[in-house]
Amino acid sequence: MNRFYSLLKQILFKFDAERVHDLALKILSLPSVPSSLSLFSTAPSCPVSLWNLTFRNPVGLAAGFDKNAVALSAWYELGFGFCEVGTVTLLPQEGNPKPRIFRLVKEKGLVNSMGFPNDGAEIIAKRIAKWKKKNCHHDFPIGINIGKSRNCSIEDAEKDYLESFRILYSAGDFFVVNVSSPNTPGLRKLQTPSLLEPILTSLQKENIKLGQKPLLIKIAPDLNENEIFNIAELTSKMELNGIVATNTTMHHDLPEGGGISGAPLYNVSNRVLSLLKKKTENKIALIGVGGIMNKNDYLEKIKLGSDLIEVYSGLVYNGPNFVRSLLA
Ligand SMILES: Cc1cc2nc3c(=O)[nH]c(=O)nc-3n(C[C@H](O)[C@H](O)[C@H](O)COP(=O)(O)O)c2cc1C
Repeated sequence: MNRFYSLLKQILFKFDAERVHDLALKILSLPSVPSSLSLFSTAPSCPVSLWNLTFRNPVGLAAGFDKNAVALSAWYELGFGFCEVGTVTLLPQEGNPKPRIFRLVKEKGLVNSMGFPNDGAEIIAKRIAKWKKKNCHHDFPIGINIGKSRNCSIEDAEKDYLESFRILYSAGDFFVVNVSSPNTPGLRKLQTPSLLEPILTSLQKENIKLGQKPLLIKIAPDLNENEIFNIAELTSKMELNGIVATNTTMHHDLPEGGGISGAPLYNVSNRVLSLLKKKTENKIALIGVGGIMNKNDYLEKIKLGSDLIEVYSGLVYNGPNFVRSLLA
C-alpha cells in the first residue's frame, strides 16, 4: 500500500492540491469505497476514555480535511479513532478565491488560505445525524469545529457561534470553538481573553441547558507565552474540557500567504503544547496537532502531554496507511 501510494502521489502531486483533495473526498464518500479500505488499514485497538466518550484509538482526523462530513465511514475504515469535521459556519460560504492550497514538497508542508468554505450548519448537522443513524460506531466520536462566518463582525461573533452551536448540538459528540484560523479576517483577535470570554460564557450557558457536551477551543501556534497562559487560565475559568493545539502558523514569508501546516509546524506547535501542559497541570485535556509525519512525531506529541492527537498534512504525504503506521 505504501509503495503504491508513493507512485500514486507522484501523479497526484502534479495537479492542483485542492482539486486532488476534492476528488479524493468524492471517491471516499462513495458508498462502496469505505468497506474496501478496511482490507488494507484496520488499526490496532488502543482505546482512550475521555469526557465520558470512548475513542477506539487516540488518532483523529484534524479539522479542515472533511469540512462537510461527507466521508465519515472512510475515516472509520482507515483506522481513525475520531474525526473533527468543519470548520462549520452558520450559513454556507465559499471561502477565499482559488488557488488556496499549495504543497511545500521538499519541506513536507502545506500552505492554505481556505477561509472556511463549507455547506453551513443546517446541512452538515443533518448529514452527520443521518450518518450516525445508519452507523453505530460508539467508539468513534465526531467532533464539530465551529467558526465565525466571514461576513459577521467581531461584535456579532458571540451570536454567530451560539447559533451554529445550537443547530449542530445534537449531531456532535464534542465541539471545538475555532478562534485560530488565519484566513478569516479578525478571527485570531478572538483569542484575546476580553473578546473570547463572552463567547465562551454564552456557549457554556447554552451547553449546560442542552446537556453538557465536551467543549474545547483551538488555538494558534503564533501566540507568546503570556498569551498562551492567559488562554489556559480562561479555559479553566470557563470550565472548558480541552484545548486543541494548534492551528497553522503564519510565521513565514512565502508569497502564497495563508497558514503553514505539516513538518515545518512541528516544533512550533510542540512549544505551545509544552507550555499548555505546564500551565494546565493535567486539569484539562489536550489534543496535540501540528506536523505529525511519522510514528516518532506521534509518540513525542503524546509524551509532551497530548491525550489525543490529530493529523492532516501527514495523511496527504503518507497516504491511507498512515493511521496504522502511527499505531503499529
Ligand atoms: C488545507 C487545510 C485546511 C484546513 N482547514 C481548517 C479548518 O477549516 N479549521 C481548522 O480549525 N483547522 C483547519 N486546518 C488546520 C488543521 O486542522 C491542523 O490544525 C493543521 O493543519 C496542523 O496539522 P498538520 O500539521 O497535521 O497538518 C486546515 C489545514 C489545512 C492544511
